[in-house]
Amino acid sequence: MKLGRLNHVGVATPSIERSLELYRNMFGAEPHGDPFDLPAQGVRVCFVDTPNSQIELIEPLGEDSPIVKFLEKNPAGGQHHVCFEAADIEQAREWFEGKGARILGPTRIGAHGTPVFFVHPKDMGGVLTEFMETPKGEH
Ligand code: CO
Repeated sequence: MKLGRLNHVGVATPSIERSLELYRNMFGAEPHGDPFDLPAQGVRVCFVDTPNSQIELIEPLGEDSPIVKFLEKNPAGGQHHVCFEAADIEQAREWFEGKGARILGPTRIGAHGTPVFFVHPKDMGGVLTEFMETPKGEH
């Protein structure tokens, strides 16, 4: 496997609205579209574009959201994961399985509408790492 483009950095927040205020005030940045619910991952999502990547703001959707624990440890929010693109998501998954890496749950549809999976931070140097299939027609 060849490491793909950094698609986004995931930032957990207790409030997307408050984070968007911060991005406006501190960076002069506007959201890329409105926040939306991603029930398959238990989060509400909003993207902020940077010239070469994106910040993915994620807020818990429901009490059993996978980011509830993270926010208990980091009440103000914080950097949660990084996401790299892969040309073929099944091939990428097989690659990590072959390395014995712990993959968190099934491959599912992510915030960009393409399949994604997550690899446990313990096998990724302490960084929760998402892989997403490169959207067709991009790059
Ligand atoms: Co993500």
